[in-house]
Order: sequence, then C-alpha cells, then structure tokens
Amino acid sequence: MVQINLPQNSKIIKGKYYKDQTGSKNIRKVNVYRWNPSTGENPRIDTYEVDMDNCPSKVLDILNKIKNEIDPSLAYRRSCSHGVCGSCAMNMDGKNGLACTKPHSEIKGDINIYPLPHLKVLKDLIGDLSTLYKQYESIEPWLKSSKKDDSKENIQSIEDREKLDGLYECIMCACCSTSCPSYWWNGEKYLGPAVLLQAYRWIVDSRDEEKKERLKKVADELKLYRCHTIMNCTNACPKDLNPAKAIAEIKKMLVTS
Ligand code: SF4
Ligand code: F3S
Ligand code: FES
Repeated sequence: MVQINLPQNSKIIKGKYYKDQTGSKNIRKVNVYRWNPSTGENPRIDTYEVDMDNCPSKVLDILNKIKNEIDPSLAYRRSCSHGVCGSCAMNMDGKNGLACTKPHSEIKGDINIYPLPHLKVLKDLIGDLSTLYKQYESIEPWLKSSKKDDSKENIQSIEDREKLDGLYECIMCACCSTSCPSYWWNGEKYLGPAVLLQAYRWIVDSRDEEKKERLKKVADELKLYRCHTIMNCTNACPKDLNPAKAIAEIKKMLVTS
C-alpha cells in the first residue's frame, strides 16, 4: 500500500468506473488516485478501462490517453516525455519512478497509479514539492568561485570531472526522497537523499572554493544524520544513481576533515 499523506478524518474510497467505449479486445484496467483537496471530498480511486491496441509503451502514454480520450479532469505533471525533466515522477505498481520511462508491460495485472508517497497532494497525482525545493535552495546549488575573469575557462582535470559522474545526472525528480522513511517522518528538517546528493555534487566539484563551508552547513543531526542507510533511495532512483553512497561519502568526509 502506498503511503499517502491523507488529511485528518478522511479515507480513500472507491471512485468512478470508466468502461471502455471502443470495443477493444485488448483492455487493461488502470486504477488512479484522484483527489481535489479544495472540494472537501474524500480521495478516491477511479478505474479506467484503456484500449491498449492504440496506446504507446509507457505509463505516461496511458495517462495521456485517459486525459485526452476518457477523462480530461485528471491532473498530473509531465513535460519532456524523455526522462529528463523529472516532472512525471509518481508511484506506479507500488514503486516510485518516471511515468515517461516506465514501460506498462512491466506491470502485471491492474495498473495502480498514485502520487509520490507522503507529499501533501495538490491535486490527483501532483504532490507538493515546495519544501524539497526550499531545501535544495538551502544548499546553494551553484559554483562558488572567487575567479573574476569570466572570459577564461575554469579548467578541471579529467579525473576531477569524473568525480561528478553519477551526480550531475540527477534530475531532482524526488523519487528517492519520497521513498525514504526517514524523509517521510522528518521531511521538514532532514534534507533527504535528493538534496544531499546535490550537496555532495557541489562539495566534490574541484572548481568550487567553499567545500569546507558546504560540509559544515550539512553536518547536522537532523539535516544529515537522519539517514539511517535504509537504501530505499538508491533502489528508487530512475536514473540509476546512488544517493545513499553520496550521503555516506559526506559522512566519511566529515570524519576525516
Ligand atoms: Fe531523482 Fe535519482 Fe536525483 Fe533522487 S537521485 S532526485 S531519484 S534522479
Ligand atoms: Fe533514506 Fe536512503 Fe538514507 S532511504 S535513510 S536516505 S540510505
Ligand atoms: Fe520529463 Fe517524464 S516527462 S521526466
């Protein structure tokens, strides 16, 4: 069962059933979390019968088909459709991922789609990421350099550049942070795996001149040490990154610095 942040005194109820209107012999049932907090109604699960003969291969294609052909009221985020922007992150078949890169053929039986776990829901599959973005801003994710001459290249050795591999590819989709039980319970104070991976990305950038200050800033019982090596984060990352390792590297640096 996906951990959904429900308002007090509410429960998820069975919603509407949308029967196939196309006569297709190749139907899949898709159960989607629906909730508009402004209505005061309970969240519900709507079920859509979707004609798979005329549906491309990804879960996002199913959602687009539902929105375009069956129920335009469904709300979800998406933009690039190529696993680059991170906006279509959601929980599919009990696992966080990107709807635009997740093949629906990998899901057996009914397809269950929920928002990312434990976020405040703004509408349907759209979670509120404003706390995560504030935390991201707090680690100052930009190069801090005293070099004044912008006309010259800020050179980095091949070895130093390689240290950013596995870090720069992060698209801030939040699949990792919202799969972390520590982040679920301490999300206001614990920075979580997505933001800590980003913090580490700047700590190890050879061109940055504030490595010490950056380390000092995250060396905090709540911001960093609420990571208890649960590893859900690494397991959830749709870009195959390893935020748990990045967190462990920060902890190691703090012991040795
Ligand atoms: Fe998404 Fe992976 Fe970055 Fe976490 S580490 S925000 S799961 S891309
Ligand atoms: Fe959470 Fe990953 Fe640490 S799941 S506890 S951030 S190893
Ligand atoms: Fe951009 Fe899925 S729509 S990552």
